[in-house]
Amino acid sequence: MSKPRFLYVCRACGHQSAKWLGRCTECGEWGGMQEERVGGVTSSGGGPARAVGGAAGSDPAGRPVPLAEVTGDETPRRPTGLVEFDRVLGGGIVRGSVVLIGGDPGIGKSTLLLQIAERASRAGSPVLYITAEESITQTRLRAERLGVRGDKLLVASETDLDAITSHLETLAPALAVIDSIQMIHKDDVPGAPGTVSQVRECTAQLVALAKRRGVALFVIGHVTKEGAIAGPRTLEHLVDTVLYFEGDRYQSFRILRAVKNRFGSTNEVAVFEMRQEGLAEVANPSSYFLAGRTGNPAGSMIVPGVLGTRTILVEIQALTARANYGMPARKVSGVDPNRVAMILAVLERRGGLSLGSEDVFVNATGGVEIDEPAADLGIAAAIASSFRDRPGPAATVWIGEVGLGGEVRGVSQVGLRVQEAARLGFRQAIVPAEASVGLSAPQGLTLVPVPTVHAALEHLA
Ligand SMILES: Nc1ncnc2c1ncn2[C@@H]1O[C@H](COP(=O)(O)OP(=O)(O)OP(=O)(O)O)[C@@H](O)[C@H]1O
Ligand SMILES: [Mg+2]
Repeated sequence: MSKPRFLYVCRACGHQSAKWLGRCTECGEWGGMQEERVGGVTSSGGGPARAVGGAAGSDPAGRPVPLAEVTGDETPRRPTGLVEFDRVLGGGIVRGSVVLIGGDPGIGKSTLLLQIAERASRAGSPVLYITAEESITQTRLRAERLGVRGDKLLVASETDLDAITSHLETLAPALAVIDSIQMIHKDDVPGAPGTVSQVRECTAQLVALAKRRGVALFVIGHVTKEGAIAGPRTLEHLVDTVLYFEGDRYQSFRILRAVKNRFGSTNEVAVFEMRQEGLAEVANPSSYFLAGRTGNPAGSMIVPGVLGTRTILVEIQALTARANYGMPARKVSGVDPNRVAMILAVLERRGGLSLGSEDVFVNATGGVEIDEPAADLGIAAAIASSFRDRPGPAATVWIGEVGLGGEVRGVSQVGLRVQEAARLGFRQAIVPAEASVGLSAPQGLTLVPVPTVHAALEHLA
């Protein structure tokens, strides 16, 4: 059995030392160094010792230790109470973790984090919201609109990194929000706030502090025109988790997606609806996206798309109209324009549809983005349905990738897609012939395997 190993940790600031010190070299606190066990053996007396946060299990002298001897609690998580948000994080907020949240201007980043911070503050531990872009009065007004009082939520309007770190050191909050990192500056770093050097330097310092003090830190970052979080992409390497908050500003639904997560899967997405009183979780996104659909008009098809680990039914609408002058227009929204161009060529050559002089518009309703090949067949059917002015079969979903030869190819997770369709009362699924082998139909739903686009279009009324 290996010998127990100890580390001395300052109670006041969390500073760790291999040997006992009368006075902490970091914060100057006298008599605050506490012995903590870091080996695999229980310490003698004094009850079980706590493993030390960031350096759990490491040798006091920094020597490598066998992995099996590394102790430490399973990552302690604290659920926020917003189930969708917790799922994206991997089960809740991890102590000492740093989460970067990016998103377009006005998408609702401050709203989301104010809601999260307020909920977290109800648990009793201090929660600090640094609002660097707005005054505390503006934040108060937002809180009023969201219907939260925030009795225990501390806010500070601050852009200076040193002032922020001193707040964090003094309060040692369980959770802190920096809104936004592009507005924070550090005096001895050259450049204006928001420049690469400022953003990187400030983030690095905040990350170090969060790890040392066990603060769960949420950092908001703006997104550049190219779609990356402003500042360098390397910012994403500094933090534990990167979330993107997306959605169409003119639509009310929002998706929170993890693009990097050291504590959970990056497959998860959360769906919210932006309301007057803040962001509300959408527990059943399929019903939400199909809510405005009436009847079964020509040019409208339902496609089960996979967003993260969830299947969401989306309505694809297409409209073809004779182009009166010049080049026919091809406008799409929420679907991949390159795939639509390819599908149009396939319909022309393999489906016998003469679309060369038609304006074509394709739209995924609800502002959702569905760019996976599995939506090809639904898009093709919607275009053909509008062109021929013949609706699709009632209560039917379309699943399949369209190949250049006009064949309908298999896609991933067909089983999940048809299950979601059956759950929402759809009675028929047009699926790729190759994917239907061994696939059992959920109760109440009939599978219609099709080998080609041509065969699929025969199912239009
Ligand atoms: N009274 C209101 N009713 C409904 N929605 C509102 C209302 N006021 C604001 N919003 C929504 O909140 C959004 C702004 O939210 P928020 O300020 O949280 O976004 P943000 O991402 O932090 O923006 P910024 O990039 O400017 O910091 C608006 O775009 C709007 O959709
Ligand atoms: Mg904001």
